This record gives sequence, structure tokens and C-alpha cells, in this order.
Amino acid sequence: MSKKMILDLDTGIDDTLAIAYALGSPEVELIGITGTYGNVLVEQGVRNALAVTDLFGHPEVPVYAGLPHASRKDSFEVLPVSAFIHGQNGIGDVEIPDSDRSPESGSAVDFIIDAVKTYGKDLVYVPTGPMTNIAAALAKAPEIKDEIGKIVLMGGALTVCGNVDPWQEANISQDPDAADKLFRSGAPVTMVGLDVTLQTLLTYKETATWRELGTPAGRFLADMTDYYIKAYETTAPKLGGCGLHDPLAVGVAVDPTLVDTLKINMKVDVEGPTRGRTIGDNDRLNDPVKTMQVAVGVDVPRFLNEFMTRITGLAKA
Ligand code: RIB
Ligand code: CA
Repeated sequence: MSKKMILDLDTGIDDTLAIAYALGSPEVELIGITGTYGNVLVEQGVRNALAVTDLFGHPEVPVYAGLPHASRKDSFEVLPVSAFIHGQNGIGDVEIPDSDRSPESGSAVDFIIDAVKTYGKDLVYVPTGPMTNIAAALAKAPEIKDEIGKIVLMGGALTVCGNVDPWQEANISQDPDAADKLFRSGAPVTMVGLDVTLQTLLTYKETATWRELGTPAGRFLADMTDYYIKAYETTAPKLGGCGLHDPLAVGVAVDPTLVDTLKINMKVDVEGPTRGRTIGDNDRLNDPVKTMQVAVGVDVPRFLNEFMTRITGLAKA
């Protein structure tokens, strides 16, 4: 049986690339997408997830709307910097048709819990936005921490600074309390953070190969990702490309050997000036059981080759 995957996304340009990577990976079956907020409002992210799964030829993937804001807040507004990086519509202001499907009527949190009960160790859950939905699932059904196969998240930074401020990475910053609950839950979590995602960069050279395919999906991927690369020229001019944050998390979920990891029990600072920082938990330093792994090294050429092969294959079809 192939592994089952759930993506939890604030769809988002690199979230869309994560969907494409998952759909282009025969090792996994994408059994559902749960929507979160961050790059966009949850409604916009769900709309994008429905539209892009249609465009990629996979209308069978169900999409659920998740919680619309952080656990300690009562609303959410998109930050101007998010709109600058991902566009007002979250997908680089590229227009693609709305899906004629609607989001599933059930709750995203219940879908996650039910999937763990159904697939157990064969399920991998990949959150690439705030950790609000999985924290709510763990609060409702704490036993799933022992039943799930693994959680591979994009978020945080251990050996480098954040991208919101010196302490905070964007996904963790949206809901540090939720991320802290996940990190301390004992669930088998791999953190794929800025330590590695800022080493995996895409340039206009690669997006040109998608455009040359001449397919609607190829043109969409090229136009959307060019918007993202252009934004990076302003926000991170020294990098020389855009960070493949969310697709790297999917890549690691499919093939953990793409990264070197450190086994460590982590926490998130939830109080004081370092709120949002992802760091080792001193209280569990001497615990012989380490439930988390943090990616600290990545095989960049191998990942980029996998990324281009899988996404180009999908966009060609
Ligand atoms: O810090 C990078 C992360 O923030 C990515 O998941 C991106 O999509 C945004 O959500
Ligand atoms: Ca994201």
C-alpha cells in the first residue's frame, strides 16, 4: 500500500508547488488537503487548493476548510508582506478558473483525526502553514500522537535566524502556541525549517522549462513562480532565487534521506521577546527519547532534480 499524505496549506505559491510535488510523487497518495490561513485567508487558500488540483488533473483530492485564525486570537488578516510575496490572490496574481467543486462539508480537524484512525502508521501529515489545525486535532484526540506515521512540517529555524524577525519563522509566528503544543506532544515530528529551505532555490531558468511545455499547467507554474522569484529579488536579494520551503517538506516526507537531521526535543517560546522562537527544550534535554528531528543539512542537487522531475512530469501530462 502506498503511503497516504495529507497536506495542510495556506495556499500560497510554494504551497502550490508542494501540491504539485505530492501529485507528481507515485510513492504517496494525496488523500486530502486541509486549509489554513497565513499567506492568504483560509477561504482563499481553499479556493486556490481546489483550483490548482483541478488544473493539475486531480479533482479527486478533497479539500477541507480548517480553522481561520490562531488559537489565542479571534481573527486573522493577511500581512502586507505576505500579499507582496504571494500576490493578492496567493498564487502570484495569476488567473486560473475556479473549481466547480466546493470544499468538503466536514471539519478539517475531524478529517485529520479520522485519517489517523484509518491509516495509522501509513499516514504522513505535512503542514506548511501555521500549526493550528494539528494542535486542535491533538487537543481533541491526544492519542493520535502515537498512532500517526509521521508529521513533516515546514516551519521554524534552529541554526539560522527567522524570516519575520531574528527569532521567528513565518509559519510558527502565526500561532506559536499551536506549534509549541505540537512540539511538546511527543508526536513523531520532523521540522524542515529555514536551515534547509533557504538552501534549495529555484531560478527563472527552471521556470522557463515549465513554460516551454506549452500546457496550461506548465504556463501557470511558470507565471506564478516567476512572481515569487521577483518578490525574492526585493525581500532577499542576495539569495539568487526563491526558497522552495513547502515542496522541500513534501520531498522529505516522501524521501527522508534528502536531509540530515538532528534528533532533539524541541519547544517554541510562547512568552516574552523571543515568542515564536523554535529551540531545544532544556527541560527534556536529558530525556533519552527524542521525538523530534530537525533537518540541518540537505542534498541540494538531488532535491532540485527530484523537484524538477516530479513537477515537470505532472505539468506535461
Ligand atoms: O517561512 C516560509 C513559509 O511561510 C512557507 O510555508 C510560506 O508558504 C509561508 O507560509
Ligand atoms: Ca506555506
